[in-house]
Amino acid sequence: MSDKVYIFDTTLRDGEQSPGATMNMGEKVRLARQLERLGVDIIEAGFPAASRGDFESVAQIAAAVKDCQVAGLCRSVQKDIDAAWGAVKGAAQPRIHTFIATSDIHMKFKLGKTREQVLEMTRDSVAYAAGLCPNVEFSAEDASRSEPDFLVQVVRTAIDAGAAVINIPDTVGYAQPQEYGELIAYLMAKVPNSHKAIFSVHCHNDLGLGVANTLAAIKAGARQAEVTLSGIGERAGNAALEEVIMALNVRKDYYNLETGINTSQIYPSCRLLSMIIGQPIPPYKAITGANAFAHESGIHQDGMLKNRQTYEIMTPDSIGKSSSDIVIGKHSGRHALKSKLDELGYRLTEEQLSQVFQAVKNLADKKKQVFMEDVEAVVLEEVYRIPDKFKLIYLSSMSGNMAIPTAALKMEVKGEEKLLSDFGVGPIDAVFNTIDRLVERKPRLTRYSVNAITGGTDAQGEVTVKLEENSITSVGRASDPDIIVASAKAYINALNRLAKKESDPKAEVDYLASGTP
Ligand code: KIV
Ligand code: ZN
Repeated sequence: MSDKVYIFDTTLRDGEQSPGATMNMGEKVRLARQLERLGVDIIEAGFPAASRGDFESVAQIAAAVKDCQVAGLCRSVQKDIDAAWGAVKGAAQPRIHTFIATSDIHMKFKLGKTREQVLEMTRDSVAYAAGLCPNVEFSAEDASRSEPDFLVQVVRTAIDAGAAVINIPDTVGYAQPQEYGELIAYLMAKVPNSHKAIFSVHCHNDLGLGVANTLAAIKAGARQAEVTLSGIGERAGNAALEEVIMALNVRKDYYNLETGINTSQIYPSCRLLSMIIGQPIPPYKAITGANAFAHESGIHQDGMLKNRQTYEIMTPDSIGKSSSDIVIGKHSGRHALKSKLDELGYRLTEEQLSQVFQAVKNLADKKKQVFMEDVEAVVLEEVYRIPDKFKLIYLSSMSGNMAIPTAALKMEVKGEEKLLSDFGVGPIDAVFNTIDRLVERKPRLTRYSVNAITGGTDAQGEVTVKLEENSITSVGRASDPDIIVASAKAYINALNRLAKKESDPKAEVDYLASGTP
């Protein structure tokens, strides 16, 4: 059996089904390129038959990505398979991923089909897909709740019809690790042609066992793991890529398996996803959370000082999160900044570089240490923000336990300067109320979050705001050492994106895609 585990990333498909994780086309392409840099073997780019937009995103990703396979998901029906093939066929290494449910409950209530009909659809759809594309994956949806001997027949049929990869999903996160490992081993032993395919697993996290089940299946012989960055996905999410990878790496003595992942790209990848979907990485998140390498208790700190391995089983460096990564101070040069940005994959023009350099210098005047995360936030603000209809000129705010929270703002609104002051229940509320009156709109605020980009009281606050008006939603982001200023900028950014979507609903606000490699 091969000692390589293929990493199939489905952040852009199953991950995007996670509430609030919708991405536009430009954001998807940007993330796909980062996944390529991370070293995943297969990117599942979307579900092309779902909508025109999905089809186009998959086709764009297929054209942009060269070093990994690009898969399109489809049901086991010809028109879906045609759509998937149409979207991925331009890829350097295309894959069609077709699926059908095989559990009694899904077949009876969802599909209204008998076992015989499902077997027939499996055969026909895989054979049809294999006639179009040499690389076909077949998934038996809800496999973990399917009758094992029926599953043996389905898998055998799919392999006979030309499937090179067989995926056994735990669709509803029902399986238990040992039981799931046994199911994989059972199928590999009982399916007569199992040696002709790679067995894959796809585990949901409803009982918090997505990663444990994935690892149990790998231990039992599965050689493809379907995962997402930060574990985003349908309902409670999917197995998290970073957790599966670091388990395989840190416990190489136990698994003795390889992957093609460049672990130093793990943190940049999860952080990029978090910026795109506007959801901060929780501080307690395994591997990538802010606390994952923080040692609070005196006993632990003492142990760490004596020997880091007393309480640290992996280093922040190994996932690309360097705590000593101070990149720039007042006296650092433009060249150092450029090479750091190159390392992160940002290709800026000379003019953009000058703009970022100046903004980083200004930040270094306010903040003792400027970390790479700060620089990335500046790049997103300076280079990739959309043209502004509404602009902040200045802001002052007052609050305290003996004052009525008040904000005074000067803004440019459609080319005209306006000044106003208003109150609120707190300083942020006062700022948002004032902005609403200045721009004469009243969107609904559906999400507001603040995240300290790095440690220390002088850290930049990164604010994400989600707005909704007339069924159109938009996410705005901004950062600043002053969280009230960051909040105002994020709110205005969301208003600009809302206005852009309204004026041209088909146009994607592609602030993350342009200019990047
Ligand atoms: O969870 C699931 O079963 C899936 C399949 C379509 C692979 O996402
Ligand atoms: Zn799934």
